[in-house]
Parts: sequence; C-alpha cells; structure tokens
Amino acid sequence: MDKQGSQLIRGLEGVVAAETRLCDLDGTHGRLAYAGYDIEDLARRATFEEVCHLLWWGELPTAAQLDKTTLALIAARAIPKELIQAFGLVPKDTDPMRVLQAAVAMLGMRDPDATDNSRAANLRKAVRLTSQLATAICAHHRVRSGQEPVAPAADLSHAANTLYMLTGRRPTAVVAKAFDASLTLYAEHELNASTFTTRVIVSTQSDMHSAVAGGVGALKGPLHGGAGEAVMRTLMEIGEVKNVDAFTQKALAEKRRLMGFGHRVYTAGDPRAAILRGMAEEACRQSGQFKWYEMAVKLHERVHAAKTLIPNVDFYSAPLFYSLGIPVDLFTPVIAAARIAGWTANIVEQHDDNRLIRPRGDYVGPTRRAFGPLDTRG
Ligand code: CMC
Repeated sequence: MDKQGSQLIRGLEGVVAAETRLCDLDGTHGRLAYAGYDIEDLARRATFEEVCHLLWWGELPTAAQLDKTTLALIAARAIPKELIQAFGLVPKDTDPMRVLQAAVAMLGMRDPDATDNSRAANLRKAVRLTSQLATAICAHHRVRSGQEPVAPAADLSHAANTLYMLTGRRPTAVVAKAFDASLTLYAEHELNASTFTTRVIVSTQSDMHSAVAGGVGALKGPLHGGAGEAVMRTLMEIGEVKNVDAFTQKALAEKRRLMGFGHRVYTAGDPRAAILRGMAEEACRQSGQFKWYEMAVKLHERVHAAKTLIPNVDFYSAPLFYSLGIPVDLFTPVIAAARIAGWTANIVEQHDDNRLIRPRGDYVGPTRRAFGPLDTRG
C-alpha cells in the first residue's frame, strides 16, 4: 500500500489497463484469439495480409477488401533513399534493433500524415509502417553486409517479399507459408510490454511513429522480443544434442534464467509455441539442420521436468527462423516486422478512446532532509 492507500503491484501483474477488441488471451487455458478468431485457424488458414486487415478494421476481409489492403501494402513498400544512405553511415556492428528504432523515427520525418492522429490517418500510417519496416530491416541488413538492397517485388506476398528482400532469392511456397504463419503468430498479443509502451506514448496525444519507435525499444529487451535471439544463442552454446543434459543441470544449479521459457500470463502453455514447434520440426528437417529441433525438444523436456516452466513463443521460433535462413541478430527485428500490425492496431484503439496513462510511484526514499550548500557536502 502507498501513502494514498493504493496497492503497489510490481510489474503491474494482473492489472487491467485497457479495453480491447483486438486480442483475447486466456492464460489459464492457453487460448489466444485475434478479434474472436482462434490463433490456430489464423496461422494455418489466413495470410498475414488478412490478419493485418482483421486487426486494423475488425473483420476478416472479403476478397475485394483483401485485394485493396494487399495492393496498399505493396504500394507502401518503398523507403526513402536517404534512409538507405543513412544505413551506410551506421557502424556495421550496430544492433539492428537500434537501427530500426532510428529508421522508424526517420520514416516519421517523411510521412505526410506524421502528426495527424485521426483514425483515417492512423490507418494509412499502419499500412505504410507495416510495409516500410520490413523493407528497412532488409535494406539495412544488405547494406551492412556490403550488398545492394533488393528492391521489393510487387508480385510477392508480404512474407515472401520480406524473405526475398533479405536474401535476394525468392522463397519456395513452403518456406513462404511457414514465415507468413510465424508473422501471424507474432502479430498481436494484448498488453505485452512493447504494445503497452506504444499505448502509453500515444496516450499523451503523441503520434504513431513516436509510439512505434518506443515499441521497438521495449521489444528489444531479452525478457521480451529479444528472447528468440537469446534462445538461438543458447542452442549454439549447447552445440549438440548430447550436451543438453549437462547444460540443463549446470544452468539450473546456477539459477540461470533460461531464455524462451516462462510467461507472465500463460500458465497452462503458450498456444503459439505449440504451433511453432510443428513448424520448426518441418523447417529444420527441410533445411537439413534437424539437430536444432532435436536440441530444442530435449531442452524443453528437461527444463519442464525440473522447473515446470513452459516454453513461450520465442522458444521454437528460434530454430524455425534459423532454418529459414534468418540471421540470428535479425530475429527480433523480424518479430517487430510482425508485431507492427498489433502495435498500430492498438495505437488506433488507444486514440479512439484515450485517457492519459499515468500511474503513481510509491516514494520510499529519505524525507525531510536539510538542504546543505555545495561547499558543506562531502
Ligand atoms: N528461467 C528460469 N527461471 C524462471 C524463468 C526462466 N525463463 N522464468 C521465470 N522463472 C522463475 C523466476 O526465477 C522466479 O523464480 P523465484 O520465484 O524462485 O525467484 C519465478 O519463475 C517468477 O519469475 P518472474 O521473473 O517474477 O516472472 P515474470 O512473470 O515477471 O516473468 C518472464 C515472465 C517472461 C519475463 C520470465 O519468465 C522470463 O524471464 N523468461 C525468459 C525470457 C523470455 O523467454 N522472454 C519471452 C517472454 S514471451 C514473449 C514476449 O513477451 O516477447
């Protein structure tokens, strides 16, 4: 309790801070739905473009609406050449999330609707940012690798085009579908830390680019979106399936935080992890790198048996992304390229029914201290 009688809730656990029509998350039963549609149906049967439409307009699109949304996304794929030039000035070893945050801020300087917080302008910006984020991530990667950025291909889906811009090769239909489904699985997740950040920022009547830049900063941390990259680094540290037991025993003895395990809300299991597990199995087999999947499964079993910790969304996405050829330090940017759909939808929703988000702090420092002039301190 603070002095005003309010309850201190560390980490805001269990606090309900907004009404939403976007994401229905039942952590006790391990269920997740976007706007009423079960995540498994969406991941298996809808495209990322359909999911974006659902999040932004509240309904799955008709064929004509989907054409319109898809064409709008395709039309928005280009990024300013000045941004590509700026990527050339960035030290080559800069964390791509740091670059992405700066890129979002720079895109805001060029966006014709940058300071317009109306619903119509926000929806236009949602479309633009979703396409531009993917292009910016891939263009920066190409530039830092000493390669020319790959121009977007208008005949490819959002998922296929993203892989194409990253690698310069058109992905197979199977790879494109796996990536598309993983974008859907990451698209939205209620008031997670980065989405909450975006809502806090626009609750001051600030704008979408400012909020998304903040969201990128929040997602970067290893307790949030940065966990996927950390999982892959753990698997690389383990190296071989035969090393999993020894690694797990040592990690548990050292009380090490195991990346990709645990969740604030899901107690019975993260439904996204179950879907990603199947996708990772298939992708690792196809790529001839099955050991990453085997290692992940064994680690999952050992950790779950010892600590009853559940694998979260970032656990099986790591071997999946790796076998799709995504560089490890781009795992978190790729998650941002998916979560942009949810961030922007939440920003629209926050603007629709806004009240400044301003919690209290409980002061626990010293009080009533006598002020001494500078020359008396020390
Ligand atoms: N490894 C080892 N112990 C853990 C872990 C873990 N991954 N997660 C929770 N615990 C333990 C923790 O040590 C604590 O034990 P004790 O009560 O004995 O001190 C207890 O479980 C509660 O942990 P907490 O940190 O207070 O729980 P939280 O609800 O604040 O944290 C979490 C949730 C996701 C931050 C945490 O589980 C974690 O750090 N996991 C690893 C990082 C990770 O995978 N993050 C991705 C989260 S899901 C996707 C996303 O949000 O982007």
